[in-house]
Amino acid sequence: MPAPSDPQPTAPYFDALVAYGLRGASRFHVPGHKGGRSADPGLRHAIGDNALGLDIPQDIHGIDAGSSPTPYERAEALAAEAHGAARTFFLTNGATQGNHALTLALAPQGARVVVQRNSHASIVDGLVLSGGTPTFVAPEYDDDLGMALGVDAEALRAVLAGHAPPRAIFVVSPTYYGIAADISSLAAVAHRHDVPLIVDQSWGPHFGFHPGVPESALRLGADAVLTSTHKIAGSLTQSAMLHVADTERVSIEAVARSLRLLRSTSPSSLLMGSLDASRRQIAVHGEALLHETIASVATLHAKIRRTPGLDVLDDRLRTRPGVGGWDPLRVVVDVRGIGRTGYEVADALRERYDVNVELATHAVVVLLLGIGEDPVALHRVGGDLDEIARRLRRPGDGTTVPAPRAPAAVAVLPPREAFLGPGETIDADRAADEGRISCESIAGYPPGIPALLPGERVTPEIVGYLRRLVEAGARLHGAADPALRTIRVLPAGYGQDPPVA
Ligand SMILES: Cc1ncc(COP(=O)(O)O)c(C=O)c1O
Repeated sequence: MPAPSDPQPTAPYFDALVAYGLRGASRFHVPGHKGGRSADPGLRHAIGDNALGLDIPQDIHGIDAGSSPTPYERAEALAAEAHGAARTFFLTNGATQGNHALTLALAPQGARVVVQRNSHASIVDGLVLSGGTPTFVAPEYDDDLGMALGVDAEALRAVLAGHAPPRAIFVVSPTYYGIAADISSLAAVAHRHDVPLIVDQSWGPHFGFHPGVPESALRLGADAVLTSTHKIAGSLTQSAMLHVADTERVSIEAVARSLRLLRSTSPSSLLMGSLDASRRQIAVHGEALLHETIASVATLHAKIRRTPGLDVLDDRLRTRPGVGGWDPLRVVVDVRGIGRTGYEVADALRERYDVNVELATHAVVVLLLGIGEDPVALHRVGGDLDEIARRLRRPGDGTTVPAPRAPAAVAVLPPREAFLGPGETIDADRAADEGRISCESIAGYPPGIPALLPGERVTPEIVGYLRRLVEAGARLHGAADPALRTIRVLPAGYGQDPPVA
């Protein structure tokens, strides 16, 4: 790990940005709004001259240019130290950019990688860019809640058995519902084959900063970890971090090279400054902030459980395969007991109290908390949920029907070849009858597991499954036609004969 030149309570990049941005330096460089002076008055009024003043380009002397280590280099080193990484990269296009970079670095043309089936779309998109070929490993699944859990070490072992080791293994922990996988066991399996374990910890940028939240995957043996800092840890939307461990299974140079290809030549200083400041906050005050928030969550859980028909996911989950821990900052309210769907409860919360939730499914409503959540807001939402549940409750009206599992899909071509192939948009039923190869990546949300990826064969079962999800209220992510009347596929016969060069 590089020795940081500053202690954690400093924010060298952010401080240098503030010094330059607000001291009235003459700016004969981009951006053209010149710190506000040339900006639209409405924009100026709405976001203020401070924000516009800090919006500066790359290569400003004393910020990210000049003698090394620059404030920018020191900021990344401090983030690496706080997260226990050998090297941390700031990202300005979200964790999406990190997944693209990791697939470019670790899954080059023709290389096989093992990928958790319900990985974020950016992993398969990354494979479209890089040309790697995925072998999928299914997460554990809770049929009652219609919710994916983590990948179990046994499942990973089974996928690896009898094959040449893949170039890398990509898993997600925690899930959208805050369920963390048993990363130590997954790392042990991966490393037995000398394969790097890459963990998409986008939803856990705060992991490892308090004993009441799961440990960071990096400290549990992962070789590279992504944290989508903006999601929970207080930086601005679209800012994230990619951490590479000190294990030498992932080449820092290869990751840096991929990031150079993916990075804008004008990365947002506001986003990077917010990463530096949020790292300072979580490193210095994270434990105290999380302590308060977790205490308020415990009170909220108790309130939810006292409401007839409501339950909340908690430590009881730990006994399930594929579950190594859970995140208290995700309050997953099980509403099945009131005979209503999570969609109905979410609508009622919004319409009656202007309470807007992160996610609703058939069975649950998910509240997403930040590291320093307002205890009063948590207390209030407990009351709102109680009132809504009592009002909507349909006693004896049975349980809701969660999203079923997707039928198995068969991959015929690598994602890159299908995505870049000579696609055509045709009737989805015809595509299924003719067994065409999909150019699209389609996942129903919920449950968020892709039913079809580029390179996989379209079947009547898959089309029927996706349409049933839509009828039940799910959205189809990635589908060009959200109603799935049509689909983009490769021409008939493509993939049977060698493709035309
Ligand atoms: C597991 C996972 N990885 C990556 C991403 C992409 O993150 P970002 O929005 O920061 O690009 C998401 C987004 O929701 C996600 O859920």
